[in-house]
Amino acid sequence: MEKRRLGRSDMEITVLGLGTWVFGKAPHWKDVDDDESIRTIHAAIDMGINFLDTAKAYGDGYSESIVGKAIKGRRDEVFLASKCGADPKIIKKDIDDCLKRMGIDYIDLYQVHYPRTSIPIAETMGAMAEIQKAGKIRYIGVSNFSLEQLKDALETVRFECCQPPYNIFWRQIEEDILPFCREHEIGVICYSPLAQGLLTGKFRSRSQVPDDVRANNKLFQEGVFEKCLEVVDFMEGIARRHNRTLAEVALNWVIHQPGVTAAIVGARRPSQLQENLGGAGWSLTDEEIKQIGHRGLEVSKLLDYSTNMWGYKPPA
Ligand SMILES: NC(=O)c1ccc[n+]([C@@H]2O[C@H](COP(=O)([O-])OP(=O)(O)OC[C@H]3O[C@@H](n4cnc5c(N)ncnc54)[C@H](OP(=O)(O)O)[C@@H]3O)[C@@H](O)[C@H]2O)c1
Repeated sequence: MEKRRLGRSDMEITVLGLGTWVFGKAPHWKDVDDDESIRTIHAAIDMGINFLDTAKAYGDGYSESIVGKAIKGRRDEVFLASKCGADPKIIKKDIDDCLKRMGIDYIDLYQVHYPRTSIPIAETMGAMAEIQKAGKIRYIGVSNFSLEQLKDALETVRFECCQPPYNIFWRQIEEDILPFCREHEIGVICYSPLAQGLLTGKFRSRSQVPDDVRANNKLFQEGVFEKCLEVVDFMEGIARRHNRTLAEVALNWVIHQPGVTAAIVGARRPSQLQENLGGAGWSLTDEEIKQIGHRGLEVSKLLDYSTNMWGYKPPA
């Protein structure tokens, strides 16, 4: 699979990485089987993915433990990324817990999961710099930062990666974050590239959306969902022309946006992963990328970006 350099780091990551939120189980996801989770991680590595993303917040460390079990004996085959809180005191504990849970002595990329308005960015990033100096993390990353917060962070310490939400419907970063990251050579790894399953085409009515974290996803709400389905129909036509699936088209679109380094895609079982891998290794035409982008943007304009995709606002 194609690899791209993450920021100015020495990490050449595959354009599709495996997200492991679902492996953290409750409270966000249901019906998750640990053995299947481990099989999915093994399948990802076997199929050539070299980048795994987890977080303490995924099941309060549970996902980190599952990743740790799965990579036992295979540490050298993958770049590992996890995430911590923004409180400097907690960061120092989070990293030690993370390394212990994953059974490793350093992590390749450690990201601040969410900024907190009551904590100066310089303090958060200062703590990240300290654990980097201590050799516990190779590179620093941030997630869910605004443009102003990215600027502040860069004044304190060099970081190589920004992890925002991005898919054909969730387009906020195009205005400011993508251009900023391009200018400063910061890698961008996008989350929820399949809009949590919507861009696989399997949800044709709102009643099919599972009662898990997706119940609050703004894309699944009345008035927006129906508009999304119109775009899904359009994209399915393009998928048929290429003899591809909708998921492959949706992922291909994301990884061909200027400034995007990779997409982190979730999969709860190897068969989903297998399909998703087909998102790389080919290309939509420029005209198709433009047309999909244009239609997705119409949906994007209906969305409220004052809170995140699930209506969550981190505590101050
Ligand atoms: N930094 C952050 O704040 C943040 C936030 C969200 C996510 N992330 C990261 O990004 C990763 C991916 O995001 P995400 O899980 O929100 O969204 P996603 O990748 O857009 O969607 C993943 C979900 O879609 C379904 N799916 C995936 N492939 C499929 C296929 N081929 N056919 C049918 N269904 C399929 C699966 O759920 P079902 O089988 O249950 O339908 C899967 O869990 C996460 O795992 C996490 O690492 C980070």
